[in-house]
Amino acid sequence: MERFVIIVAGGKGERMQSDLPKQFMLLADKPIIMHSIEAFSKIFSSIKIILVLPKFWISHWEDLCEKFSFTIPVKVVEGGDTRFDSVKNGLATIDLDTGIVAIHDAVRPLISVDLINRLYENAELNGNAIPAVVVNDSLRMVSDSNNQFIDRTLIRSIQTPQCFLVEEIKKAFEQPYQKSFTDEATVFENAGKRIFLVEGETSNIKVTTPIDIIIAEALLKLKKD
Ligand code: CTP
Ligand code: MG
Repeated sequence: MERFVIIVAGGKGERMQSDLPKQFMLLADKPIIMHSIEAFSKIFSSIKIILVLPKFWISHWEDLCEKFSFTIPVKVVEGGDTRFDSVKNGLATIDLDTGIVAIHDAVRPLISVDLINRLYENAELNGNAIPAVVVNDSLRMVSDSNNQFIDRTLIRSIQTPQCFLVEEIKKAFEQPYQKSFTDEATVFENAGKRIFLVEGETSNIKVTTPIDIIIAEALLKLKKD
C-alpha cells in the first residue's frame, strides 16, 4: 500500500516563548523538523512526504534546506489557523484514495523506526493506529470550587504519528471544525469511527516548552536508530 506522511509544522510554538518557531530550533546542530522528516524517509524510500509550514516561514525553510544541504524531497503546503486546518490542507494534496497516511507533529523528533513501522502495520490491519502511553503522575480533575481524584490506570496520553487509511481520514476531515479536535483521533472518532491504540514510546516527546529542548537533546544522544 502506498505510504504518505504529513508532517505538521504550521504552528507558532507560543509555549516555547521563542521568536523562532520551535520546529526550526536546533537539536544536536540540526533543525528539529529535519530530524522528524528523516525518521520517515530513512525507513521507506518511496514514502510521499507532505510538509505543512506557516505561510510566512516557507522562505526560511528553503534557506534552511540550503544551509543544511537537506535534499529529501517534500511537498510544501501552507498551514492554517488551527492544527485541524493545517492537516486538512495537507490531506487535500493527496489525490489517491488508497494508501495509509501518518500524521506527525514536526516537534516529535525522537520518533523511532520501530514505532513508525508498528503504526503503519497496525493501520493496515485495523484501519487506524494511534500511539498511546500510560500516565505516571497522579491525576486530579479540577474545577473552580473543587478538585477530584482520577484513576490514572484509565487514562492514556496520546502521541503522533497517527495513521489512517487515506480515504477514511479524508472523509472525516469533511466535517466542520470543533474546539475538541486537538488531534486526528478526535476528528476520526467524531466521524463515528473506532480508535485503535498502539503502545507508544515515552521517549517520543513533543517539544513544547524550553525544558523539552534539554530533555530531547539528552534523549537524542541515547537514540539507537
Ligand atoms: N500545528 C500546525 N498548525 C497549527 C498549529 C499547530 O501544523 N495551526 C503543528 C505544530 O507546528 C506542531 C504540532 O502541530 O508541530 C503540535 O502542536 P503544538 O505542539 O501545540 O505546536 P504549536 O501550536 O506550534 O505550539 P503552541 O501550542 O505552544 O503555540
Ligand atoms: Mg498548539
